[in-house]
Amino acid sequence: MSPTEKTAVPVLTIDGPSGAGKGTISRAVAEALGWHLLDSGALYRAVGYAAGMAGIDLSDAAAVTRCAETTKIVFRAPKDGGETRVIVNGHDATDEIRTETAGAAASAIAAIPAVRAALFDLQRAFRKAPGLVADGRDMGTVVFTDAPHKIFLTASADERARRRYKQLKAKGLAVKLSSLLSEIEARDQRDAARKVAPLKPAVGALIVDTTGMPVEDVVARVLAVVRY
Ligand code: C5P
Repeated sequence: MSPTEKTAVPVLTIDGPSGAGKGTISRAVAEALGWHLLDSGALYRAVGYAAGMAGIDLSDAAAVTRCAETTKIVFRAPKDGGETRVIVNGHDATDEIRTETAGAAASAIAAIPAVRAALFDLQRAFRKAPGLVADGRDMGTVVFTDAPHKIFLTASADERARRRYKQLKAKGLAVKLSSLLSEIEARDQRDAARKVAPLKPAVGALIVDTTGMPVEDVVARVLAVVRY
């Protein structure tokens, strides 16, 4: 695909802090539009997981970078329409990468500039017709700066912790709401304070505070940005 054709494929970027509902909203919006979906957080989680499996110290930037460059990550949509599986070096790591520990590992390695560089082209390759919904922290600020539609989804820290709590509980994971809140706050703080691709709204992004908003209303609000 030529650069011009690539630019012509529309992208909707949905950035924001942990637990703001990006995953749920991005999936619903991509489905409604019939567009592709990029869960960029899953890539950072997968690299953190692969590094852990290889016994790599997450503070060893060179080793983690090599791991990011060589890890094979495949998203596989099950035929029955269930949750997309994340296959890391041939192993189905969907459940392992969803824990809060995996989130913290992802956040630690995501602060390494060379790791972000290693994942850049992979993320850009998701831009395919008829369009892409890209979910993450730097989709609108770094990876798809020319995206015609940009959203920054947020919610109060309490509400984000409650949502994450429900999600993890539904997966059968043992979690405590109070520790989840402090973990989420620590992760957001690190994501927002890092030098490379910090978490912040892209210029021109519509900021949507979803505190107290039902999912259907958020989806409708986001779809309106793309359609009108
Ligand atoms: O979105 P999710 O919670 O799966 O992301 C896990 C971590 O990966 C984030 O806390 C963040 O540090 C990192 N990340 C990132 N850039 C992205 C997506 C995720 O730095 N585009």
